[in-house]
Amino acid sequence: MNLKDCHNFEDFKKLAKKKLPSPIFHYIDGGSDDEVTLNRNTEAFNDYDLIPNVLNDVSNIDMSTTVLGEKIDFPLFPSATAMHRLYHHEGERASARAVEKMGTIFGTSTMGTVSIEEIGQINKGPKSFQLYIHKDRGLTDNLLERCKKAGFTSLCLTVDTVVAGNRERDRRTGFTTPPKLTLANIIHMTEKGSSIDKSVIDYINEQFDPAMNWKDAEYCVKKWNGPFALKGVMSVEDAKKAIDIGCTAVIVSNHGGRQLDGSRAPFDQLAEIVDAVGDKIEVILDGGVRRGTHVLKALSLGAKACSFGKGYLFALAAGGQKGVEKILANMKTEINRDMKLMGCRTLKELNRSKIIHRRN
Ligand SMILES: Cc1cc2nc3c(=O)[nH]c(=O)nc-3n(C[C@H](O)[C@H](O)[C@H](O)COP(=O)(O)O)c2cc1C
Repeated sequence: MNLKDCHNFEDFKKLAKKKLPSPIFHYIDGGSDDEVTLNRNTEAFNDYDLIPNVLNDVSNIDMSTTVLGEKIDFPLFPSATAMHRLYHHEGERASARAVEKMGTIFGTSTMGTVSIEEIGQINKGPKSFQLYIHKDRGLTDNLLERCKKAGFTSLCLTVDTVVAGNRERDRRTGFTTPPKLTLANIIHMTEKGSSIDKSVIDYINEQFDPAMNWKDAEYCVKKWNGPFALKGVMSVEDAKKAIDIGCTAVIVSNHGGRQLDGSRAPFDQLAEIVDAVGDKIEVILDGGVRRGTHVLKALSLGAKACSFGKGYLFALAAGGQKGVEKILANMKTEINRDMKLMGCRTLKELNRSKIIHRRN
């Protein structure tokens, strides 16, 4: 099996499983507790059906949209994920190049293994820096200043990781990262947080600040003074607060089922959030996306765009830059074909008339 045999998520996952050491594969693939939320994230899409229109001249399709102040070629982008050099020796260098080539936003994590400055050199397209607030608050200001200088176009604050989820697969496999793998984004500032030659769970619990609150988030919004997403919002109440503190977007997400097991799937919760705040803030759906039709369903309920994590990480492991290009190209092709089959020429035409909850 090689890259040319990878037609969908499951194919990339199969190839990644062959290439990766087992603990690393399970670190990507696993969720928390009983993985109920992890599984529901994708299953949720199957409880809704699309309703196409026909005879609509779909010879020209426009899949572009504007998210976090940037025009992108199609309404999907890779979510920020940690430590790409664990999955492929080129790490974020490969994914950043692939994403620029495919014309969408590159999300890079605080827990990245290539520096902010180098990503800025490699990828000249739209870029979002995903921030975790560490106990050492001096890190935040420093990271934000470096991101501005490196040309990052937006900031994304992840708020669902005050402590690590209970990832039992990692406990079983004894997953740790090699000592020589450093977190390039924080190495400049602190020796303490520069490498995680222990479990990610221990790192999160020791370094992240569970005292993080709305005032801290507001501080980051003001300090960044540009397009800003709050990632990990699941309640209407919190989405409203995100508007109050000046966010541009909320990313409806449960961290891909890796944090609170039993929390609702983002797709199940999407309509309620869109109905409450969709006219005031961009709503992005993150989690469980495996197919072009999943993106179409989310947009029909009112999401501005979707993001996905595991899919492109398996593709990175399977084939480096070429792998990430391939999965993004596959998804772009699927979205294009599915829009035609839906009779939609622009993303605006995807609306509530195009989707229905299955009555069986
Ligand atoms: C291996 C892995 C590492 C991740 N690291 C981060 C991270 O550093 N920061 C973050 O905000 N989210 C992180 N996430 C969550 C993703 O950004 C995203 O929310 C999730 O993967 C979406 O679900 P999906 O994998 O079903 O597409 C990570 C996810 C995975 C699978």
